[in-house]
Amino acid sequence: MTDPDGSPDDRRDPGSSHEADCVPVPSAFEGRATPTDDDRDEFAVNWPAAWARAGDALEWERDYDAVLSTGDDGGPPFEWFAGGELNACANCVDRHLPERADAVALEWNGHIGESRTYTYRDLHREVNAVAAGLRDLGVDADDVVTTYLPAVPAVAVVMLACARLGAVHNVVFAGFSADALATRMERAGSRYLVTSDGYYRRGEAVDQRRRADNATMSLPYELDATVVVDRLGTNPDVSRDDRHAYDALVDAYDGERVAPVPRAATDPLFRIYTSGTTGEPKSVTHTTGGYLAQVAWSTRRVLDVTADAVVWSTADPGWITGHSYGVYGPLALGATTVLTEWSPDAVDPDRPWALVEDLGVEVLYTAPTVVRSFAKWGAEHPAGHDLSSLRVLGSVGEPFDAETWEWYYEHVGGGDCPVVDTWWQTETGAVLLSTLPGVDEARPGAVGGALAGVGASVRDASGEPTDPGQRGWLTIDRPWPAMARELATATDWGARVAAESGVGRDGDWWYRVGDEAFVDADGYVTVLGRADDVVNVDGRRFSTGEIEHALVEVAGVAEAAVIARDDPDSGNALVAYVTTADERTDVSTLREALGDAVAAAIGAGVRLDQVVFTPDLPKTRSGKIMRRLLEDIANGEGYGDTSALRNPEVVGELEARHQD
Ligand code: WTA
Repeated sequence: MTDPDGSPDDRRDPGSSHEADCVPVPSAFEGRATPTDDDRDEFAVNWPAAWARAGDALEWERDYDAVLSTGDDGGPPFEWFAGGELNACANCVDRHLPERADAVALEWNGHIGESRTYTYRDLHREVNAVAAGLRDLGVDADDVVTTYLPAVPAVAVVMLACARLGAVHNVVFAGFSADALATRMERAGSRYLVTSDGYYRRGEAVDQRRRADNATMSLPYELDATVVVDRLGTNPDVSRDDRHAYDALVDAYDGERVAPVPRAATDPLFRIYTSGTTGEPKSVTHTTGGYLAQVAWSTRRVLDVTADAVVWSTADPGWITGHSYGVYGPLALGATTVLTEWSPDAVDPDRPWALVEDLGVEVLYTAPTVVRSFAKWGAEHPAGHDLSSLRVLGSVGEPFDAETWEWYYEHVGGGDCPVVDTWWQTETGAVLLSTLPGVDEARPGAVGGALAGVGASVRDASGEPTDPGQRGWLTIDRPWPAMARELATATDWGARVAAESGVGRDGDWWYRVGDEAFVDADGYVTVLGRADDVVNVDGRRFSTGEIEHALVEVAGVAEAAVIARDDPDSGNALVAYVTTADERTDVSTLREALGDAVAAAIGAGVRLDQVVFTPDLPKTRSGKIMRRLLEDIANGEGYGDTSALRNPEVVGELEARHQD
């Protein structure tokens, strides 16, 4: 991690983390791929107009006037497909009915082995019933409906029902704490909640209802309605007027039809919260037209999903990957999406492969941390199953090291399936950097270049593109259709440099994404990781500031700094450095309180791998905590120049305490 105000340092030798070996398109895949190079040629001469290729793949109620409209100086605000009107639910469900009503839209596999299959006809029926029910509960266009649900079909159904009504969904990961839910509802002004009685986590039933109630009680306003899914079979109490059982709602409105509400292309489709650099959850809004167009486009181009394909994107719907490649992308294309209530790295090692075999999964999209678990469990597990249905393997969320990449390619793909390492973010909505399956050779360790229509660079601190092999900031150089509203409308780029990570200069526009990277001579980008206060653990994104904030709230704590240490399994493990207000504090009780505080503020899934108590934290002369140094100490690496330190004596102290 580096100081976001400064230039990326060169602690790591880029060459050492990048195996330049190329993997050509597998011969078995040749002729099976549908993406082509053709988009690149078109975009090279015809940007942004060529984005009509993505826009025109959707069904519009009213045609758009322009692919991209900009501010007077060619900069923000950016509006994609301005003037156009469409409905996202109609695009993901209704338009497939004439040809594909009996095709499977959603295959669900529950925690305790249950399964459910929805054809497009079934999905249409339930989405309409839920939309009719929500409408009668008062949900109107632009109202924000929050879900706090495990990965059950109701999440996708509610998302689509909201889209149908022009309401804005706000999906909150079920593992988040009551506090985290309350903040995400209040900030969004959300007066509707769909939750469940509970859910299963690692075989245990978790009481979700109590958490949801705690959250809603702490809101400064009353909710208009709460809908409860009976996941555990507890027949939850919905006797209050503002409480409704999901199943009863579906039954009561079964057979009703709700006309899809036409939305402007730039109208919000959903909100999603992610971790930002400020320690506060960051709200990101995605649009109806640009988002859906680019998500559908990239699902087709990057994951090679066609209408009859079976796609398993393993991310929970609570994250952007679940939204884009678990729900909207596959359904916009009329494909089959697989939703599992379990994470593939937290079950019996044969279960993921039995599912691939049973359902004939063709496209598997997961995270490096999951593949590392597979590799640890051993190649005999995938080898014991018929995985010949697999065609394309994808990865997202964190740097994919070459060794794990090779394992995925060999033992899951059998050397026949292209592996695409896709780079993107909550803010970008869709994949922006990747190789194309069947078109590009892969370079394990590198993600590839910017996709057709997307511009990307690696720049130094002054904004100049770096030479090949030199680390710098990854920037996206042109607007793209699925860009978050917040990025598209921010005109104060200069002011955003410190708080966020956008940079504009000399009339140029670019978006600094917060990652450090380098590019090779052929344009393949290797992403090294976050360069700001955001960390990825187990493929999930956290802000160290948010965790630090929870820690310093604990009585007895003076200061806290949280960093991510390299971890062979999860990619990163969280280490907290804590100073106490009083040296005589009993640190063993405090240690427990710190773990509890993080769980309460963020969620039970967030675990501090290590807490190091120290009399002092390393600080610069201007008083900033030098997290980079803490990272080096935690990783047992050399840490070079410490002359900027106000208190160099702390280094030896920390090293000693790390051994405790
Ligand atoms: C990281 C997830 C390396 C990166 C879709 C980014 C990656 C953050 C890759 C966004 C990749 C994502 N290689 N790093 N292929 N893909 N990242 O918002 O640091 O949860 O900024 O979106 O994940 O995480 P988010």
